[in-house]
Amino acid sequence: MIYNFPKDFWWGSASSATQMEGAYNIDGKEKNIWDFWYETYPHRFHNNIGPKVTSNFYYKYEEDINLMKELGHNSFRFSISWSRLIKKDGSINQKAVDFYNKVIDKMIECKVEPFINLYHFDMPMYLQEIGGWENREVVSKYQEYAKTCFSLFGDRVKKWFTHNEPIVPVECGYLGNYHYPEVVDFKRAVQVGYHIMLSSALAIMEYKNLKLGGQIGIIINLTPSYPRSNSKEDLEASNIADLLLNRSFLDTSVFGEFPKELVEFIKEQDLMPTYTKEDLEIIKNNTIDLLGVNYYQPRRIKAKETEKGEVLTPESFFDFYDMPNKKINPHRGWEIYEKGIYDLSINIRDNYNNIPFFISENGMGVEGEEKFKVEGIIEDTYRIEFIKEHLKYLNKALNEGCNIKGYHLWTFMDNWSWLNAYKNRYGFVEVDINNNFIRTPKRSAYWFRELIKNNGFN
Ligand code: BG6
Repeated sequence: MIYNFPKDFWWGSASSATQMEGAYNIDGKEKNIWDFWYETYPHRFHNNIGPKVTSNFYYKYEEDINLMKELGHNSFRFSISWSRLIKKDGSINQKAVDFYNKVIDKMIECKVEPFINLYHFDMPMYLQEIGGWENREVVSKYQEYAKTCFSLFGDRVKKWFTHNEPIVPVECGYLGNYHYPEVVDFKRAVQVGYHIMLSSALAIMEYKNLKLGGQIGIIINLTPSYPRSNSKEDLEASNIADLLLNRSFLDTSVFGEFPKELVEFIKEQDLMPTYTKEDLEIIKNNTIDLLGVNYYQPRRIKAKETEKGEVLTPESFFDFYDMPNKKINPHRGWEIYEKGIYDLSINIRDNYNNIPFFISENGMGVEGEEKFKVEGIIEDTYRIEFIKEHLKYLNKALNEGCNIKGYHLWTFMDNWSWLNAYKNRYGFVEVDINNNFIRTPKRSAYWFRELIKNNGFN
């Protein structure tokens, strides 16, 4: 069977500033929360490795973009580092402008379309010091920052994203104690989520006002929730997980309103954030043109069986279900469920006006990947298999009328990850962090190049 994809399908990959740039204190870059956290609590990081150097893209961007071209990619998503671009005193860092201009121009020269995301978990420390996303003033700072980016780069960049996985700073920073500022407080988390959503709408408003002729959207990790069974209790638990972790941002970004059920839930739990009617108008009037969907694994849910615990969190309302016999990526421990990509596509088609979307991240992390090296090349047949099986389901969704525009792998070259440093490798391209950051394409990179050339596969 041949799997063909539409003309001009976006093929490429994604990364983020903190995870690939390095040069963490070079050319006037301010600290972000990761730099600060690493400096203060290095033991929170895998093998004590922080974001100082990551993949060294700041110095190697030309080589990397040439390689993207060589490997046939037509698009690449990266993020701008807010703490590199905007100085503590609010002025623009010209060295950062020069860097991003060079990256964008090089990409355009290589026919790799730049997709830019404005926020990938990396709050400038000087803004975290005044409360980060909890503070309404930071929302205004983000609005200014977004407008600055559009004005500086919007003449050439036509795909913009306001946030990557907006639920993550909420879940990890204010509920789960995984990211700085390590707060566990549901009410504060709701305020953070609300402000992130508002900031997204404000950025969209700024973008539309500038009439630059491109598209703007948001990237959401739409992990579908699957209940353990069809019992009332399991269904209810799964519904709450979906409401809090998916529909909170998805519905609001697409329809301009927080889901009524979510508002009722938040009210019932006495977690309402501070908001104004004007804010809600802004959210209503500034919805997305385009959606990016990150999909790695499903979320399997069962009714709460364990103790609720003293501190209220989303997991006070459901438990995660460890389904027997699930297919597992043994190198990362995550479930592999290819059909999830089809299910979420059909959900967008049927319940979200068939809005244009693309898979903005999908991928397979592998620990100890060097062991698959044969004659200098990582033979990542497992990754080829992983991509193929997901693309088959994406192809089925396309054939059933879903408005899918592209597929980006996480990630182009191995990069640093928030808590796992270089443990799990995801790239099409190996980065030898012990040897001058030498880049070597893996087998999957060549396989993907063929796929792009044929715009499909057998
Ligand atoms: C995605 C994030 O959710 O998962 C990336 O957007 C992250 O920033 C990726 O690196 C993989 O997660 P991990 O923890 O295996 O690196």
